[in-house]
Amino acid sequence: MSEMNSRERRRRKKKQRKIAITVMGILIVLLAAAAFYVTLQAKKNQGGDESSVSREASSESLASSSSGSNQTSSQSPVSSAGSSGSSAASAGSATGSAASPAASSVSDSAVSGTSVQTETVSLTEDEKYTGDLILINADQAYDFERNASSIDLKNIRESQSFSYPVGKEEFQVAGRVLSSLDAMIAACDQAMGTSYTGISSAYRTKEYQQQVWDDAVKTYGESYAEKYVAVPGFSEHHTGLAVDLGIFYDDGSEGSFSESDNAVWMKDNSWHYGFIRRYAEDKQAITKISNEAWHFRYVGVPHAAYMYANNLCLEEYLDYLKNNTSQDAPLSVTCDTGTFSIFYTADKTIRKPEGVYELSGDNSSGYIVTIAV
Ligand code: DAL
Ligand code: ZN
Repeated sequence: MSEMNSRERRRRKKKQRKIAITVMGILIVLLAAAAFYVTLQAKKNQGGDESSVSREASSESLASSSSGSNQTSSQSPVSSAGSSGSSAASAGSATGSAASPAASSVSDSAVSGTSVQTETVSLTEDEKYTGDLILINADQAYDFERNASSIDLKNIRESQSFSYPVGKEEFQVAGRVLSSLDAMIAACDQAMGTSYTGISSAYRTKEYQQQVWDDAVKTYGESYAEKYVAVPGFSEHHTGLAVDLGIFYDDGSEGSFSESDNAVWMKDNSWHYGFIRRYAEDKQAITKISNEAWHFRYVGVPHAAYMYANNLCLEEYLDYLKNNTSQDAPLSVTCDTGTFSIFYTADKTIRKPEGVYELSGDNSSGYIVTIAV
């Protein structure tokens, strides 16, 4: 009985060892499988990283290839608005503005294997004949066609910011200069202690200028007309930037502006508002028009300030800019509205100015760029 029991115990032990060995074998197989799986996953992950690196690499080369070619983007006019009231010359306004939607582009040039990008502005042929600085005189006609889309005339009586005399109800000026005109007249009236300063002529069509010419010839003779009236097509009044000032008394009668104290005040102060006294006695040989105390032309504050300080008429000022300035050597003007860099260029492509800028043609050979710095 005991021998049988001991045999039975041995048999059971043997069976238990067998089971233990089988379980261990299974565990070893499972561990090996788990290790293989983990290794496989690790390899898979490594493979994924490699492909994302290669995606980055390929997008990088796409970016460099697109910057390697010339890109063109359109640039909105800083002021189109601007162009309206925000012109560099608005009284009290501190900035210039891009009058025109000049296209800008990014061009590359290879320098010692590295790519240097320069943003540029393209100037159009039309822009040579438009803007606040265009010169209109006996030699340079006003280009009605090229200015047709930008002239933006405003009726003075309907749009003036306070009620000052306007000779005829249909008188208009370029909308972008009206607030400067209002401010100039208000300041003159305040200085004089009266409210007599008003507008005796403003924008004129070619046909209206013909009437003015014909009336002058009829009333005063041809030689007078030649001295004081521009040939139709060659008058600053076509621009909407010029006005003739007058004295309008409360009883409806008119006085002589030339003999008034207002004329003296305007001569010395109009530049604060961006206007110049266009036809001075000592410039008759250049302008080919006789002394007109009443005719004021808007050019913008920094330009008017420089012309007044240096006793230059518009012809002389534009000649000065043309012969003495460039984008790399601009004229610097500090005036009521800030400091400005001003230069002339005949090039149709310039480096994009840093900061807010305004563009005007000279109405013959090139452009004047005015940058608020
Ligand atoms: N009185 C100026 C010169 C004009 O007629 O335009
Ligand atoms: Zn005039």
